[in-house]
Amino acid sequence: MKGALFDLDGVIADTAVYHFQAWRKLVKDHFDRELPDELEEKTKGVSRVDSLKVILNYLGITVPQEQFDAMAAEKNEAYRRLLAGLTSADILPGIPELITQMKEHGVKLSLASASMNGPFILEKLGLSDTFDAIADPSKVAAGKPAPDIFLEAASEIGVDSDDCVGLEDSVAGITAINAAGAFSVGVGSPNELGHAKLLVPNTAALHFDEIEQAWERR
Ligand code: BG6
Ligand code: MG
Repeated sequence: MKGALFDLDGVIADTAVYHFQAWRKLVKDHFDRELPDELEEKTKGVSRVDSLKVILNYLGITVPQEQFDAMAAEKNEAYRRLLAGLTSADILPGIPELITQMKEHGVKLSLASASMNGPFILEKLGLSDTFDAIADPSKVAAGKPAPDIFLEAASEIGVDSDDCVGLEDSVAGITAINAAGAFSVGVGSPNELGHAKLLVPNTAALHFDEIEQAWERR
C-alpha cells in the first residue's frame, strides 16, 4: 500500500449535504419544484454538469445551453456560500488520525475528487499541505464512474494504481476505484456500496490497521 486516493465530499468533510442543498435551492428558485432524497445518491461523486443533467432529466425539463451554464454557475455560487464557514472542525471523525497514520507509514496521499472546489476546500480545512497531490478533474476525459480521476491521482504521486487504496462514499466513486485497479474502501451502507472491497459504516470506523490488513488479504 503505497498510495491513498481520497474522495473529498462525504469522506474528508461533510460537504456532500451542501451540494444537494444547493441543487434543491436552484430547482426551487427556477422551477418551484422539489427534489426527492433518492436523487442525492445519483448526483454523489458525479460532476457538476452531469449532476445538472441528472436533475433536469428527473424534472423532465430541457433548457437552452446558455441557461444550463448559468444554472450550473448559480448552483456553485450557492454551494460556495454554504462553505463560507468551513474550518478544520468540519473534517469528518477519524480522518485526521487516518491521515497521520498513513503518513507515518509512508503512504502518499492524493486527492481524487470530482469537485472543481477541491483546492479551495482543502485550504479551508487546513489540509492543503497534507496532501502530496490534487488531481485536476478538469483535465480528465471522463468523470466517475470512469476510472480516470483515480488513475490521474495515482499518477500524480508516482504510484501504480494497483498499489493504492481509494476511499469513497458514492456508488459512482467505488465503481471508478475498482475500474482503476485500486483497492476500494467504501464509507456508507451495503445497500449502495456493496461493490466496495472493504466497507465501513462511517469515517470514524476507518482504521489504518484494518485497511492495511484488508489490503494484504486482497
Ligand atoms: C463531487 C460531489 O465530489 O463533486 C458531487 O460528490 C459534485 O456532488 C462534484 O457534483 C462536483 O463538484 P463541484 O464542486 O465542482 O461542483
Ligand atoms: Mg463523495
